[in-house]
Amino acid sequence: MNAHDSEKVVGTLLHEGYSRVATAEQANYIFYNTCSIRDAAEQKVFNRLQHFKKAAGKGKVFAVIGCVAQQEGEKIFERAPHVSLVAGSASYSRLPEMLAELEAGNRRVTGLNLDTDQTFDTPFTSRDNPHRGWITIIEGCDKKCSYCVVPFTRGPERSRTGASVIEEAARLAGLGYTEIQLLGQNVNSYRDPSPAGWDFATLLDQVGRVPGIKRVRFTTSHPRDFVKPIIDAIDANPNLCNHVHLPVQSGSSRVLAGMQRLYTREQYMERIEWMRQAKRPIAITSDIIVGFPGETETDFEETLELLEEVKYDSIFSFKYSRRPNTPALELGDQISEDEKTRRIVILQERQRAIQMRQNVELLGEVEELLVEGRYESSGQWVGRTTRNRNLTFVSPKTDLLGTYVPVRVTRAGPASLTGELI
Ligand code: 5AD
Ligand code: SF4
Repeated sequence: MNAHDSEKVVGTLLHEGYSRVATAEQANYIFYNTCSIRDAAEQKVFNRLQHFKKAAGKGKVFAVIGCVAQQEGEKIFERAPHVSLVAGSASYSRLPEMLAELEAGNRRVTGLNLDTDQTFDTPFTSRDNPHRGWITIIEGCDKKCSYCVVPFTRGPERSRTGASVIEEAARLAGLGYTEIQLLGQNVNSYRDPSPAGWDFATLLDQVGRVPGIKRVRFTTSHPRDFVKPIIDAIDANPNLCNHVHLPVQSGSSRVLAGMQRLYTREQYMERIEWMRQAKRPIAITSDIIVGFPGETETDFEETLELLEEVKYDSIFSFKYSRRPNTPALELGDQISEDEKTRRIVILQERQRAIQMRQNVELLGEVEELLVEGRYESSGQWVGRTTRNRNLTFVSPKTDLLGTYVPVRVTRAGPASLTGELI
């Protein structure tokens, strides 16, 4: 979502008459699009701001946008006095105005208002990938997971109209895009604000029916709002990818309650069961946090068992990080950094073994890939399957980018698959 925000901001700036330069050294204006989901990401912003100012910052205008901007607000001006613009994502539709203020000589400009009912979608978005286009369908989050800073940095949920999403998908199809990835903090709580009132499953199905679109993905889902009609839509429409990212966060119902995730392990497994009964095999991926305050060895064991039970295709795993304003900040029984590290290493090893076992089973299978890139040095192509797996293969052909090709899997590692073009 953050990367797509950058595409929107770049597009807006280009439309205002600015141009993009190859290196930061050549720029007059420097934008830092920031993430504050974990503390490490936040610290990185300040280190880079400091470092770049010293190295090549003379005479340049610095802007800090995104979640760190929203969270820290005007405090950024104190920590990094060379910054002139601080704006959160809910204010991006005002960027042209804010830039005009800077051009007029205003030294400090802010966009920190969160009570907006607008989404920031712009016809000027400058997309980096020519085949797969991201479309934001809902911004903000109304959940209150106790560890999470997002509701404070991205504000309340706002959905776009179904008609505007379909229009954008059709426009992208006209430009040659064949894959659409629908984005939102919680896409499952999407609700069309127009009288049509589409829910997420309906929107998903409709995007999958836009002429020219061959693949539709979506991220992220929240188990509480993930309903059976989403699986029914995937069953009914082959253009909807066989992949669901359904973050569980923990395998322990006790920890899930502390996280205020609003579901139990059993309810989560019920959703996994729906996917197992789908007509096509659906890849399932997840996010997991280790070391949430009070997580015992038994709780952690339950997460490890859940990995084996679900057999995820891949996971993103994180050490719990204390975030400002969040309810979990007040919880006692914080887990030490060493212990968090121990747990995440075990978790990742366990997942690696699961992936190795599953990938070996793919040997000999034929997968359809959307070819997305080429490594010039090795002459290898890389593409993605509907189940969101990257596969590399060698071919002397030179015109495969953006095409769909069948590839047989010939080699499998825990995190990689190699194949041959058929
Ligand atoms: N600490 C660690 N991980 C977090 N995430 C969100 N907030 C935190 C936090 N405070 C993870 C969750 C979420 C993913 C995007 O980031 O797993 O699903
Ligand atoms: Fe954060 Fe929970 Fe909302 Fe996801 S659903 S953005 S984890 S508050």
